[in-house]
Amino acid sequence: MGEGVLKPLQIGPLRVEWPVFLAPMAGYTDGAFRSLCLEQGCGAVVTEMASSQGLVRNRLRTSRVLERWGEEHPIGAQLYGSDAGVMAEAADWIAGLGAFDFLDINAGCPMPKIRNRGDGAGLMRDPAKMAEIVRQVAAAVAGRLPVTLKTRIGWCADTVNVMETTAGAEAAGAAAVFLHGRVASVRHSGPSDWAMIAEVKRVRTIPVIGNGGVKAPADVFRMAAETGADGVMVGRAPLGNPWWFRDVRDLAAGREPRMPTVDEVRATIREHLRREMELMARRGKKELKLGADLTACLVMRPHLVRYLRGFRGFGDLARTLEERVDAATLLERVDRVLASGRKSEADGRN
Ligand SMILES: Cc1cc2nc3c(=O)[nH]c(=O)nc-3n(C[C@H](O)[C@H](O)[C@H](O)COP(=O)(O)O)c2cc1C
Repeated sequence: MGEGVLKPLQIGPLRVEWPVFLAPMAGYTDGAFRSLCLEQGCGAVVTEMASSQGLVRNRLRTSRVLERWGEEHPIGAQLYGSDAGVMAEAADWIAGLGAFDFLDINAGCPMPKIRNRGDGAGLMRDPAKMAEIVRQVAAAVAGRLPVTLKTRIGWCADTVNVMETTAGAEAAGAAAVFLHGRVASVRHSGPSDWAMIAEVKRVRTIPVIGNGGVKAPADVFRMAAETGADGVMVGRAPLGNPWWFRDVRDLAAGREPRMPTVDEVRATIREHLRREMELMARRGKKELKLGADLTACLVMRPHLVRYLRGFRGFGDLARTLEERVDAATLLERVDRVLASGRKSEADGRN
């Protein structure tokens, strides 16, 4: 089904064999979750967004956002900011780490505290500045990392300027564009405009990877076929369901996707928490007021909601999720939910 539609993708010198990307999502796509997705067949991942100002001013603290769990590849580091010089300095430092395969510029984050400073989606209001940032960042990491841009089709319904912004980014040296088919004003709700993604793909020579509104695994192939995009990036659908990427591979190979067993869900939650604890344990006591174990449990909370909401006993766990508990107690509660069984077979798929 999909093999004919999805081909290996070239981002500058980087070859992505399977162009199905996990989207960057602050608060979710840390090394623990990304590595689980890669193990289930995700083709490439991107870090949560890191502040360029933060990296330049307070390297240690901000660089935590860029931490990897083991060898994750292919992986992009995502930067946000609106000062070209600071972005270039932060990018240069990231390239020096030797840990990443590409560097992505966030030009789509619609959160007020980001966009109101002109960062993230704010860059779409100033295409010349966006292009200048791409140019300076690409120059700073030239020969070391290809630079990509993650952006949206426009700021709001009346200002869809993606043709202009992507033309500028391409001319400035971007090696690929991740294009979210929504405008910034709707944030993450409503339909994603795949027709606009198709239009951009038709005129750009660099690869265009479509994003937005991919829910079922089969949507990957539908988006690729309908837009002609060179790859597909997915955000929310695999949360609490890293097996989503296995399903995409199964569909491509003509196999029937299968729901994860309860044992698989249990083992994955345990492993996810273990990786979060390992990531937290790298931080010093000064950095973590609550200690590694409790902090990892807090980080797991939004994931647990998604792993477990299809189970009958989920309501009981949800009521206690605000409590600060250690890993052993949390896992006991998880086991109780899992033992309650699924509400319906369909709930195996989030
Ligand atoms: C909770 C959350 C956090 C996000 N954080 C980022 C981020 O750090 N960087 C970014 O470029 N996009 C971020 N996004 C946007 C996603 O990468 C993606 O573009 C969006 O969710 C649309 O894809 P989807 O419909 O497959 O979820 C975030 C989205 C969500 C829901």
